[in-house]
Amino acid sequence: MRLTNYYLLLLTLIILSSCNAQKENNVVSLKDSFKNDFCIGTALSANQIEEKNEKEDSLIKKEFNAITAENIMKSMFLHPAKDKYDFAMADKFIAYGEKNKMFIHGHTLIWHSQLASWMAEIKDSIEMKNFMKDHITTIVSKYKGRIDSWDVVNEALNEDGTLRKSVFFNTLGEQYLVDAFKLAAAADPKVDLYYNDYNNEEPAKRQGNINLIKKIKAGGGKIDGVGIQAHWRLESPSIETIEESILAYSALGLKVAFTELDITVLPNPWDLKGADVNQNFEGNAKMNPYQEKLPDSVQVKLANRYASIFKLFLKHKDKISRVTFWGVHDGQSWLNDWPIKGRTNYPLLFNSNLKPKKAYQSVMKLKETNE
Ligand code: G3I
Repeated sequence: MRLTNYYLLLLTLIILSSCNAQKENNVVSLKDSFKNDFCIGTALSANQIEEKNEKEDSLIKKEFNAITAENIMKSMFLHPAKDKYDFAMADKFIAYGEKNKMFIHGHTLIWHSQLASWMAEIKDSIEMKNFMKDHITTIVSKYKGRIDSWDVVNEALNEDGTLRKSVFFNTLGEQYLVDAFKLAAAADPKVDLYYNDYNNEEPAKRQGNINLIKKIKAGGGKIDGVGIQAHWRLESPSIETIEESILAYSALGLKVAFTELDITVLPNPWDLKGADVNQNFEGNAKMNPYQEKLPDSVQVKLANRYASIFKLFLKHKDKISRVTFWGVHDGQSWLNDWPIKGRTNYPLLFNSNLKPKKAYQSVMKLKETNE
C-alpha cells in the first residue's frame, strides 16, 4: 500500500514537472494563445529584420504573428530625395513577414516626423499634392497585395482634438487627410487603411479623432481602422477610458488596433510639479531608479496592469484586429531614451535577456483560465 502511494506520488511529480518544463521552455506562445482573438504583433528594428541575433529571431518567430517596422519604412528612409526611393530594407521586412506567414503592417505613409529634409521644406500646395500622389502611389503600389494594412496618416491631431499644424496641413488644409486615404485606396483597393495616433483614447483627442474619421468618410475616403498606439503608464489611462474608446471607434464601423503597446515604469519629468523646466534630467539618478533591476513590487504592478489591459482586449476581441508591442524586449525599447536619454526602462513582456517577465505570465494566464 505504502509502495503504491509512493509510486502514485512519483507519477504525479513526473507529470507536474513535465508540464512545468513545457511552460519553462515556453512551448506555449502569445500568438498561439491568442490565435482566436487577435493578431499579436511586434515592432522590428533593422537588426531584427536582418535576423542578426539568432536568439531574438527565434523568439520573434515563436511569439508573434504580426510585424511592423519600427523605423525603416518611415519617409526619410523610403523616400530620401525627391526622385529617389530606397526599398532595400523594406523589401527585407516584407520578405521576413512572408517567409514567416505573418500579418504585415506598413508604418507609415503621411507623418510630420521622420520626414526627409526636402519634404519638410515643401511650401506650396501644388508641390505638396504632387508629393503626396507620388509618395503614396509609389509605395502602396509597390507592395500591393503583400502588405495587409497601412498607417495612412499618423499623429495628425493635437491633444485637444484640433488638427496639428503640420507641413501637410499648412499647405493643403484638412483636405490632405481625405486625399491621403483616397490615394492609398486607389493604389491598393484591398489593403486595410488605418489612422494611427497616441493618446487618442483620451476624451478630447478621441472626439477629434472621431471628427477626423467622419471627415475622411464624408470626403469619399476609405478608412478601415483606427490605431491606438497605447504608449501607456502604470496608472493611466484608465481601463474605462480605453473601453469607451474601443466602443466609440467600433461604433463608426472601424476595426480597432493597438499598434505600439508599451508601459513605462519610470518617473515622468513632466509630472514633477514645480520642477524647473530648464532642469536637465539626464544623469539624474532619481529619474532612473531601476538601473540595476526592476524591484519585484514594480514587476508585479506591471504584470497586473498588463493583465487588466488584456482582460479588456479579450472582452472586446470581436472589435480588435491586432495588438502590437512596440519592440520585442526591454533592451531595445525607445523608452530607454525618451523622454530622457540613457535610462533603463522595463515596458515590454520580455526582459533584455529575452526571458518572459511576470507580465508575460499574467497575460498568458488569462487564456488558461478563460478556456
Ligand atoms: O539611425 C540612427 C543611428 O545611425 C544613430 O547612430 C543613432 C544615434 O542616436 O540614431 C539613430 O536614429 C534613431 C532612430 O530611432 C533609429 O534607432 C533616432 O535617433 C531616434 O530618434 C529614432 O527614434 C524612433 C522614433 O520613433 C522617432 O520619432 C524610435 O526608434 C521609434 O521607436 C519611434 O517610434 C514612434 C512611432 O514611429 C510613432 N509613434 C510614436 C513612436 C515612439 O516615439
